[in-house]
Amino acid sequence: ARKFFVGGNWKCNGTTEEVKKIVTTLNEAKVPGEDVVEVVVSPPYVFLPVVKSLLRPDFQVAAQNCWVRKGGAYTGEVSAEMLVNLSIPWVIIGHSERRQLLNESNEFVGDKVAYALSQGLKVIACIGETLEQREAGTTMAIVAEQTKAIAAKIPSWNNVVLAYEPVWAIGTGKVATPAQAQEVHADLRKWIHSNVSAEVASSVRIIYGGSVNGGNCKELAAQPDVDGFLVGGASLKPEFIDIINSAT
Ligand code: 13P
Repeated sequence: ARKFFVGGNWKCNGTTEEVKKIVTTLNEAKVPGEDVVEVVVSPPYVFLPVVKSLLRPDFQVAAQNCWVRKGGAYTGEVSAEMLVNLSIPWVIIGHSERRQLLNESNEFVGDKVAYALSQGLKVIACIGETLEQREAGTTMAIVAEQTKAIAAKIPSWNNVVLAYEPVWAIGTGKVATPAQAQEVHADLRKWIHSNVSAEVASSVRIIYGGSVNGGNCKELAAQPDVDGFLVGGASLKPEFIDIINSAT
C-alpha cells in the first residue's frame, strides 16, 4: 500500500506574518496520523527556517528548488547541502513554472533530482504536458520523456514522489477530471513497470497537481493510481486541511 501524500506548494507567496498564520491554521487542524497521510509544505526558501521551527512535528517541509550540484560560486542559488544542513527533508524539482519560465530542460531536471537524492534529500519530481501537447495527443510521450530523463540519472526511486501536473491545469481552475488523471497515472505506472522495475511501479507514489481544491479532491483521491496531491493556490487556504483529509 502506498501512503497518501499531500504537498502544499506555496510558490512565491507570503510574508512572515502570513506564513505564521498558515502554520497556526495547520497546527490546529484535525487530520489523520502520519501513518495514513504524509503532509509536506513548501514555503519559499527564506521562510523555511521559521516554518520548520513552528510547524507541528507530524508535518514536514520542502524547498521549492535547489542547485544542480555542490554549492560554490553560483550566485543566487541554494544548494542541496544547505537544505540538508537545515534538516529540510524534501525538495520539489522540475516544477513546470521553472521548466517554462527558467528554461529548465529534462536533462537539467534529471541531474538535479539525482544530485538532491545523492545528498540525502527526498524529491517531489514534477512532470506534465502543456495544453498544446495534450491537444496534439502527445501527453504520454511527453511525460514518459520527462520521467525517462529522471530515471536515467537515479540509482533508486525510494525517496522520490512523482508529481503529475498538467500545465493547463495549474492555476487555471481547470482541474483534470478524475478519469484524465487516472489515465495518465496508470500509464506512468506502466511505463515505470517496463522501464524501471515492477517493484518501483507498485511502490512509487504518483500524485496529481493542478487546480486541486477542497471540492474536487475526494473524487480524484478515489482513483486507484492517484496517491495524493501537490496543491498550489489552495495550500495557502484553510481548505488545504480538507485536501489532507481526502486521504481517508
Ligand atoms: P494550483 O493548485 O494553484 O493549480 O497549482 C498547482 C501546482 O503547481 C502545485 O505545484
